[in-house]
Amino acid sequence: MNRAHEQYLVGLDLAGRRVVVVGGGQVAQRRVAKLIASGAVVEVVSPEVTPAVEGMAAAREIAWTPRRFDDGDLEGAWYAIAATDDPAVNQQVTSEADRHRIFCVRADDGQAGTAVTPATGEFDGLTVGVLARGAHRRSAAVRTALVEALQAGVVDDSAEDPLPGVALVGGGPGDPELITVRGRRLLSRAQVVVADRLGPRDLIDELSPDVEVIDASKIPYGRAMAQQRINELLVEHAKAGRFVVRLKGGDPFVYGRGFEEVQACAEAGVPVTVVPGITSAFAAPALAGVPVSHRGVAHEIVVVSGHVAPDDPRSLTDWEALGRMTGTVVLMMAVERIGVFADVLVANGRPADTPVVIVQDGTTRIQRTVRATLATAGRVAKDEEVSPPAIVVIGPVAGLDAPGPGGAGAA
Ligand SMILES: C[S@@+](CC[C@H](N)C(=O)[O-])C[C@H]1O[C@@H](n2cnc3c(N)ncnc32)[C@H](O)[C@@H]1O
Repeated sequence: MNRAHEQYLVGLDLAGRRVVVVGGGQVAQRRVAKLIASGAVVEVVSPEVTPAVEGMAAAREIAWTPRRFDDGDLEGAWYAIAATDDPAVNQQVTSEADRHRIFCVRADDGQAGTAVTPATGEFDGLTVGVLARGAHRRSAAVRTALVEALQAGVVDDSAEDPLPGVALVGGGPGDPELITVRGRRLLSRAQVVVADRLGPRDLIDELSPDVEVIDASKIPYGRAMAQQRINELLVEHAKAGRFVVRLKGGDPFVYGRGFEEVQACAEAGVPVTVVPGITSAFAAPALAGVPVSHRGVAHEIVVVSGHVAPDDPRSLTDWEALGRMTGTVVLMMAVERIGVFADVLVANGRPADTPVVIVQDGTTRIQRTVRATLATAGRVAKDEEVSPPAIVVIGPVAGLDAPGPGGAGAA
């Protein structure tokens, strides 16, 4: 390749076209996944391949020819990638490609091929490609920065029509990096955001000033009325032609009343997109070094709402069954009544020395962890002035040794 000239960046339509990848290691694996996504008819030629490539062949996503490259293998190909760890074989592939006028990437030496793979990223139907004349770290860094800027709405691509309806987005447990890529993308397109008290509040700050932000936690009246007003707001704004993101803490369907909002929109004929989120029920313990399941320790996880007491006639929870369990019980909305729940579990058979971990403000800068047992949980929570939001993990997993610095929870 003549480096006196800049490279010509192009988008290839490879759908239904034969592409030959020579080599079956990590580099080939990365390229093959992208090629499959582009609809190419991929053949991998290599005596050995990674388990992932073997899986793709077993699933008939690609064809695998398990031998060394031979002249003639590029017959009928539109594009080729030489990605073996043997420069002589890669040279043989590029020479053959040259003879047939097939563009060919040489993974070990970009300059020796006739094409290079740009660093690419996807955002909402856009594909961003960056070439940096062989400076791979630079192209990858610029690509990542561009995609992040698009995700955050810093780069404005809003020339398109607004999206329709409402997106019910699980914002994750609080750390702004724990929202999903899809959630972040839709948030950057929002014209109205209806936000909860819990969830990634920092992301609200990043929104452009013309986005209307409605703080749902400040909507007046009692619980039921507030929910009804939220439903009305979603419908009103969407019907006025604005794209509404309902940004909720954790996952919308884990004690988040998300399905009520879906139903309200459906009844009003407003289209809804649901974007699941990372629930605090699992994320908060994880970042406190507590796995909610562990091989040979817990084979069941039950996530329980503590918003009503066990003897409340509205309670739908089978506390007797929970008392018999040996696995993990995760309590949400339970701070006020930790002692009551602990007592009822012990009364129903759970040993009093069962370990308990309480994680307050999980995944945020002020996260803190308090340890106790079922016998002491109520008192410890009071003495330590535990306040909502908090997750209570009960069971042997709460007694596992937490990893030290650099282990779980480290960024
Ligand atoms: C109404 S529920 C919403 C749960 C949310 N949909 C989810 O999936 O995380 C509120 C409860 O979630 C828990 N919670 C939410 N965010 C939390 C966090 N960052 N740390 C600890 N607990 C949290 C607390 O138990 C809180 O009382």
